[in-house]
Amino acid sequence: MDKTFTNGDGIDSWNTIIFLYNSALKEVRTKVEILNDEFQQVHQYNPIEYIKSRIKSPESIVKKLKRCGYESSIDNMVQYVNDIAGIRIVCSFTSDIYKLAEMIGRQNDLTVLSIKDYIKHPKESGYKSYHMLVTVPIFLTDRVIHTKVEIQIRTMAMDFWASLEHKIYYKFEGNAPEYISRDLRECSGIVSMLDAKMLQLNEAIIQAKEAQEEQEQKEGTGAV
Ligand code: GTP
Ligand code: MG
Repeated sequence: MDKTFTNGDGIDSWNTIIFLYNSALKEVRTKVEILNDEFQQVHQYNPIEYIKSRIKSPESIVKKLKRCGYESSIDNMVQYVNDIAGIRIVCSFTSDIYKLAEMIGRQNDLTVLSIKDYIKHPKESGYKSYHMLVTVPIFLTDRVIHTKVEIQIRTMAMDFWASLEHKIYYKFEGNAPEYISRDLRECSGIVSMLDAKMLQLNEAIIQAKEAQEEQEQKEGTGAV
């Protein structure tokens, strides 16, 4: 990317910008990992299966700015490209997504700029995921810069669908034949059924386990 990018806020080079977004990713990732560890500590249960993060490539940033009708400048990318720093949290169950989103929203030093719930309102493509756009303060020696991070929270099944849909759709550059789009939407329905079934099973297992423990306790008391 052009290294002569400048803006008026003292953020004057591509390298500084990437350093900031990288720092923001580290901050958010650590926060989420701590929440997961705390959950493990308190409930002996991990809501997160895995976390992925990435910095958007210069090519993709320029492409996005162009698509939105903006020229390539540091100012424009900071203002208009919200997903330069992106973190994806992949959970076990749909219920974990909302628990995590709430926990993230309660972090005092994060500011939630917007939320898009594509689980309650899936995209036309069938895409499901919970998106949060947040800013995290990055403390430099002489100033604090609030830096944007896009957080995507989804189940493993949703992640599986999104990854494959991206691969398939990419080949058509957005102009896939209607029957392919339809089949992908159908697969998204199957993914939702699978998520609902797994959640149901998990709840049934928890209940069965509790009933079993109660029974064992009763029997234990009875024997004394
Ligand atoms: P862009 O889609 O990145 O231009 O930003 P936006 O402002 O439209 O935000 P949106 O919440 O729609 O999407 C942000 C991100 O979600 C994308 O970069 C993808 O990672 C993911 N996403 C959104 N829609 C789809 C979809 O139909 N399929 C897949 N696989 N991913 C999607
Ligand atoms: Mg989009």
